[in-house]
Amino acid sequence: NWTMDNFIDMEVAKVREKVGDKKVLLALSGGVDSSVVGVLLQKAIGDQLTCIFVDHGLLRKNEGDQVMEMLGGKFGLNIIRVDAQDRFLNKLAGVSDPEVKRKIIGNEFVYVFDDEATKLKGIDFLAQGTLYTDVIESGTETAQTIKSHHNVGGLPEDMQFELIEPLNTLFKDEVRALGTQLGMPDSIVWRQPFPGPGLGIRVLGEITAEKLEIVRESDAILREEIVNAGLDRDVWQYFTVLPGIRSVGVMGDGRTYDYTVGIRAVTSIDGMTADFARIPWDVLQKISVRIVNEVAHVNRIVYDITSKPPATVEWE
Ligand code: XMP
Repeated sequence: NWTMDNFIDMEVAKVREKVGDKKVLLALSGGVDSSVVGVLLQKAIGDQLTCIFVDHGLLRKNEGDQVMEMLGGKFGLNIIRVDAQDRFLNKLAGVSDPEVKRKIIGNEFVYVFDDEATKLKGIDFLAQGTLYTDVIESGTETAQTIKSHHNVGGLPEDMQFELIEPLNTLFKDEVRALGTQLGMPDSIVWRQPFPGPGLGIRVLGEITAEKLEIVRESDAILREEIVNAGLDRDVWQYFTVLPGIRSVGVMGDGRTYDYTVGIRAVTSIDGMTADFARIPWDVLQKISVRIVNEVAHVNRIVYDITSKPPATVEWE
């Protein structure tokens, strides 16, 4: 009979059998799926696994360090962290079209990953966090692509690896259960969805270091207060966006002319449809006051009260 313990034992045996004494490469994104694959493979083949974690500079506050501390430190994964912030920012300079931004980030990710992977010798396998739902979806053509949904972790085209996809019979909730069974903390297992292009699609239009900083800092405050209010399991996804408009405000004796930050928080099952979350006014007020006080160049906060459809979850 099928239990999560059995699944782990069986997968570990399967992976060991397939890999033998060869080496496996994994692109870690910090997300649930690739993290669970990493910990599972570590259990199966230990140091025969090498992970590449590309920090594209579009991650949330402290996210890169947390991935290194948790997966590299606590779980002992062998991780190469690539600090590619400048590379991505340079490529994105002057670009404001959302789909072009997605494409640039997706392509650059593959180039950076490729550069690192070719430095490593004697790798035979590439592990991926493909889920059962990905297997089903890639078998069907969707009529229309609304957003291109680039996922971090694309496969470099000219690389000849055999694939290892230990999660490809599981649904998302089973992957979470597996992560918990493997001793992984809720902060990874219950991490809210985060798009591959990261904060790059939450700074609307052209991305600059200053604008990224505003989104990153305001997002950190929002997340902290949602957790403090005990709402983090109820709200499916929550984040801030920077529309890039500036408006007049007053602070102390002076007039300000600063940025507006938007708060997006939705309830959803799978992201295909979503409803705006009914966050209590007092929680929103606290978030608003903190962001304006603590994040430079912000003087106004708005709350997005549209559902999907007609809006999308992300603003780009
Ligand atoms: P939308 O904005 O399309 O978002 O309503 C639905 C879900 O998908 C995520 N999303 C992305 N994920 N690459 C990703 O990996 C992307 O380019 C991308 N765009 C949106 C979004 O965060 C939400 O969870």
